[in-house]
Amino acid sequence: MYYLHKQMETLTRAELEALQLERLEETIERCMNTFFYRSRFEACGIVPKDIRTLDDLHKIPFTTKQDLRDNYPFGLAAVPMSDVVRLHSSSGTTGTPTVILHTQKDLDEWANAVARCLHMVGLRRGDVFQNSSGYGMFTGGLGFQYGAERLGMLTVPAAAGNTLRQIKFIMDFGTTALHAIPSYASRLHEVMEEVGVNPERDTKLHTLIIGAEPHSEEQRRKIERMLGVKAYNSFGMSEMCGPGVAFECKEQNGMHIWEDYYIVEIVDPVTLEPVPEGEVGELVLTTINREAMPLLRYRTRDLTRILPGECPCGRHHKRLDRMKGRSDDMMILKGVNIFPIQIETILMQFEELCTDYLITLTNEEANDLMTVEVELKEFSDDYPRLQSLTREIIHRLKDEILITPLVRLVPKGSLPKQEGKAVRVRDLRRTLI
Ligand code: COA
Ligand code: AMP
Ligand code: ZN
Repeated sequence: MYYLHKQMETLTRAELEALQLERLEETIERCMNTFFYRSRFEACGIVPKDIRTLDDLHKIPFTTKQDLRDNYPFGLAAVPMSDVVRLHSSSGTTGTPTVILHTQKDLDEWANAVARCLHMVGLRRGDVFQNSSGYGMFTGGLGFQYGAERLGMLTVPAAAGNTLRQIKFIMDFGTTALHAIPSYASRLHEVMEEVGVNPERDTKLHTLIIGAEPHSEEQRRKIERMLGVKAYNSFGMSEMCGPGVAFECKEQNGMHIWEDYYIVEIVDPVTLEPVPEGEVGELVLTTINREAMPLLRYRTRDLTRILPGECPCGRHHKRLDRMKGRSDDMMILKGVNIFPIQIETILMQFEELCTDYLITLTNEEANDLMTVEVELKEFSDDYPRLQSLTREIIHRLKDEILITPLVRLVPKGSLPKQEGKAVRVRDLRRTLI
């Protein structure tokens, strides 16, 4: 079965589901090239032929991030490694990181998916697309880069940081569309105000792509007003390639998840049973258009729901609601995913420190800030030594989590103690509206 890419957007449900089943069967065959999935199937007493309908998917066990870690680095490759042309990896160096592998076809399909998203919100050849995402391993960098190029836009790979330079680029290159995480969009506006740039008067910006971190409808509207743009929510994750998984259409009411690429399920994170239609649960995705590293029933840990009803835009691909949170303890700061265990592991390597620590997240103006308070084993008034210890801890933490935290060394016993399970993270961030 072959459809032109553009036709994929408007397939009927019946056509979509027929395509999904065909691609699922191909995917499962490919998965059998991996020891991991072969033994998983064997352990459950199923063979690929047992999956005859989309409903049979539930017979397959879930795949988790831990499975990816256990098979680090290339254990989930379903093609010979000589066919793999790129890998992306999660940042964690303390815990084993995860690796996602891509063939050239995977990269082409990924670029097509991102191009489809950008086209859906009206971007075209002639637009100037600036990307303020980190490049390298951050999939928002190369992911948007190739998608925007595929669409034929002039691209400005500005990458993260250096806000004054971002603003200069926006003005000098006539940037019309920008990809930025919501908190960074607010930061851009803040600096524009400081330097007397009025985005509506002084720039050609009309479209903003925001994603990578949870944000509210109010936050989106505020950003739209501040920058004089339409802002569209974009959802993705490295395990599913990166951006291009689900994206808002011009209706701005839920993100169409591209069902010719993914089969979507929403399950109860505790029972792992499907939730009733329209209810919030954990998003589970199966890749059906990937060669190098297909994933079956991957538990994303993101909490959301499928919006009921049809979208007035005419696309039949289901719509995901805004992400409501996570079913694990992952934090997202400055567009970077961080697990408390990464911080704990670093802190525990310092002999001078106790095991008690507290991570507090705040947002001053538009900047996320992480403060790590940790108890010292022994009282000391040797301030130069304490200063150099603090610097060393910051340095090691930044290496691990990629952002710069504030570190406070506090006397033993001074952090609040809770009964039962210790609370290690306080998220005091407020929505910037
Ligand atoms: N995107 C773009 N720029 C960002 C940013 C983000 N998510 N988060 C912070 N910045 C900017 C800051 O505004 C600052 O620039 P400015 O002072 O000129 O305004 C600069 O980056 C450094 O930020 P700071 O908070 O001082 O440093 P840090 O060491 O804590 O953070 C970063 C380091 C910015 C490199 C790191 O947070 C990063 O790479 N973030 C991007 C992650 C990303 O792209 N995620 C999307 C994946 S799809
Ligand atoms: P990464 O693998 O680094 O791309 O991070 C993926 C994670 O970022 C997802 O699992 C979500 O938790 C979060 N994320 C991505 N896009 C969004 C979005 N639009 N809204 C809320 N969270 C998002
Ligand atoms: Zn729509």
